[in-house]
Amino acid sequence: MLMGTSEAVFQVLSRTVPSLAFSDRGLRKANSTFPLESHVQCRKKRACSGFMESLNCSRVMRGCLMVSCIHGIGDASHGNMMFNRPWFLRCQCQRAESISGLTAEDGNDSLFVDTAEKSNPINVLVNGPNSLELGELQQSKYETNGELAEAGTVKHTSNKVHVNSMEDEAWNLLRESIVYYCNSPVGTIAALDPSDSNVLNYDQVFIRDFISSGIAFLLKGEYDIVRNFILHTLQLQSWEKTMDCHSPGQGLMPASFKVRTVPLEGDDSATEDILDPDFGEAAIGRVAPVDSGLWWIILLRAYGKCSGDLTLQERVDVQTGIKMILKLCLADGFDMFPTLLVTDGSCMIDRRMGIHGHPLETQAVFYSALLCAREMLAQEDGSADLVRAMNNRLVALSFHIREYYWVDMRKLNEIYRYKTEEYSFDAVNKFNIYPDQIPPWLVEWMPNNGGYLIGNLQPAHMDFRFFSLGNLWSIVSSLATVDQSHAILDLIETKWADLVADMPFKICYPALEGQEWRIITGSDPKNTPWSYHNGGSWPTLLWQLTVACVKMNRTDIAAKAVEIAERRISRDKWPEYYDTKSARFIGKQAHLLQTWTIAGYLVAKLLLADPDAANILINNEDEQLVNAFSCMIGANPRRKRGRKGVEKRYLV
Ligand code: GLC
Repeated sequence: MLMGTSEAVFQVLSRTVPSLAFSDRGLRKANSTFPLESHVQCRKKRACSGFMESLNCSRVMRGCLMVSCIHGIGDASHGNMMFNRPWFLRCQCQRAESISGLTAEDGNDSLFVDTAEKSNPINVLVNGPNSLELGELQQSKYETNGELAEAGTVKHTSNKVHVNSMEDEAWNLLRESIVYYCNSPVGTIAALDPSDSNVLNYDQVFIRDFISSGIAFLLKGEYDIVRNFILHTLQLQSWEKTMDCHSPGQGLMPASFKVRTVPLEGDDSATEDILDPDFGEAAIGRVAPVDSGLWWIILLRAYGKCSGDLTLQERVDVQTGIKMILKLCLADGFDMFPTLLVTDGSCMIDRRMGIHGHPLETQAVFYSALLCAREMLAQEDGSADLVRAMNNRLVALSFHIREYYWVDMRKLNEIYRYKTEEYSFDAVNKFNIYPDQIPPWLVEWMPNNGGYLIGNLQPAHMDFRFFSLGNLWSIVSSLATVDQSHAILDLIETKWADLVADMPFKICYPALEGQEWRIITGSDPKNTPWSYHNGGSWPTLLWQLTVACVKMNRTDIAAKAVEIAERRISRDKWPEYYDTKSARFIGKQAHLLQTWTIAGYLVAKLLLADPDAANILINNEDEQLVNAFSCMIGANPRRKRGRKGVEKRYLV
C-alpha cells in the first residue's frame, strides 16, 4: 500500500479519532476546517470538568480532532451538532454517503435491505400496511413453532422437516434481530423478546455476540452487514470514553452499541440516527470488554477469507484500527507472563466469577487475534516492530499456555508431588503451586484419557475449572498442540454428561458453591451454582464447539451436540442459557430469543453441512512458531540464565 508522507502522518493522527472509516476527503476537509484553537474551544463544551481538561491535554486534542473529523462526513451543518453531543456517532437519515464508501446509488446496501426483507416474511408483514403488532406476531409465530416441535417429537413425522423448519425459523429470527443505522444493516440486537420487560442492555448490539451472527451471514453470502459492522465499530474504537473522568487505552472497542433515532436538532420534521457505544462505562460492574477488539480482528479476517474482498482489511483506517488494538494488548506493563492481564468480567463472562488475572478465554482469543492480525497487516517498514513484537508474544504465549495451563492425569500427579518454595531460576514448580490446591472434585473427574487447559494461572494459584470457550478456541487457534486438542475433545466426549447433558454447552465446570460462591462471586444471585456464568449451559457455544470439531476432523461430536440442542431449543424459544447441573431448566433469568443462541445454532448447522467453510475461522499451526517453540522446550525448564541466548531463541 503506497502512501504519501502527509497522508501517512494524517492517518496516524487521525486514527486517534473515530472518523477514519469515512473518506479521506472528509478527513482533509476536517483538518483544514478547524484550527487547533477552535478544537480546544469545542472540547471545552464537553461534559467533563475543566479540571480534567487542563490535566489531560492530549485527550483534549483527541476529542477535538474527533469532533472535527465527524464534521467532514457529510453535510457541514452536522459537524456543529457534534460539538454538543460528540460522544455519539450520528448521521441524518437522508443518508449522504454510506460508510463503505458506496453511495446510495451504488445500490449495494439497499440491495441488502431488499433481500433481507424479501427473505423475511416477518419484516415484510411488520412493515406492511396490515401489520400485526410485533408482540402479537412473534407470539403467533411461537405457537406455530410450538406445534411444529410437538409434531416433530410426538408424531415422529419427518425429523428433517422439523429441522429444516427450525433453521428457517432461526434465519427469520436472526434477520428480525438486524439493527439498521441510516438504513444500512450494522449488527444484530442481543435479544429480541417483546414479552420481556427487563430488557437491560439486551437491546444493544454486542460486539462479541455479533460474531456468531456475522459468521452466519458470511456463510450465507450476505457480506454487507458484516462490512458495515466492522466499519462502524471501528469508528467507535477511538471514541472519547471515560468513567469518572478516567479514560482507558485508545484501541479499546466497545462492549456494545445502540442505534438511537432522535429528532434532528432545529428540524422537528426530521430524525437522525445516533450510534451510542458502551465501553463498560454503563455496563453492570463497569467492566471493560477486553475481548471486543480481539473478536473484531477475527471477524475481519473471516470477512476477507469468506467474501474474497480484501480491500476492507487493506484500508488505511482498518489497518490503523488493527494496530491500535494490538498496541493496547502488547503495551508493556508490570507482568512477568506473556498472557494478557485482565480484570474479572472482561470477556464473555462479564460479571465477577473469579477470572481476573490471566483467564484462558482471553488468552485463546488474544492468540487467535494475533495470528489473524499478522496475516492481515500490510508489510511496511512502519509495522516491522509491531510484527516482531507479535511474533515474540505468539511464541511466548503458546509456550506458556501449553506448558503451564495443561492438565491431564500425568500432569496432575506431577503437581500432586510438587516441591514448593523453590527459589531459583530453574524451579520446576515455577508458580509455587501448593499441591493441596488440587480440588477433590478433580481427583475424581480427571479421565485417564484426555486433558484440558485450566482456567487461569497466577502465583500460587491454579484455577482448575474447565472453561469451555477458552478450551474450544485454543483448539481453533492452534494455541493448544494437536495432541492437546484431541485430548480436549476426548475429555468432552468422556464428560458428556457433565458438559452437555440436556443442552450444550456448559460455560464452565464445575459450579462454585457455598462459601466459595459467596467469596468469589460476591454472593451474586444471578450466578448461583449451575446457573448463568456459574456452570450454566449456553447454546451459543455450539458454534465454537463445531469449529473446533471441524478443525480436528471430529465433526461427529458437534453433530451429536447439535442434535441434542434441536430437541428443545426452538420449543424453548432460543434461551440465552440453561440452568441446573444437567441443563434441564431454561435459565432463571435467561432472555428468550437470544440472538447468539440462534446464530450459534445456524453457524453450527452451516459448518456441519460444509466443514471446509470453517477455515475462515481456523488458524493453522505456523511452522515458524513450531520451530521457535521447540527451541524453547529445549531451553526449559532447567535452563541456565543466559540472557542473550534466550532472547535470540524467542525471536522468530
Ligand atoms: C451477558 C453475557 C455476555 C453477553 C451479553 C449479551 O452479559 O455474559 O457475554 O455479551 O449477555 O448477550
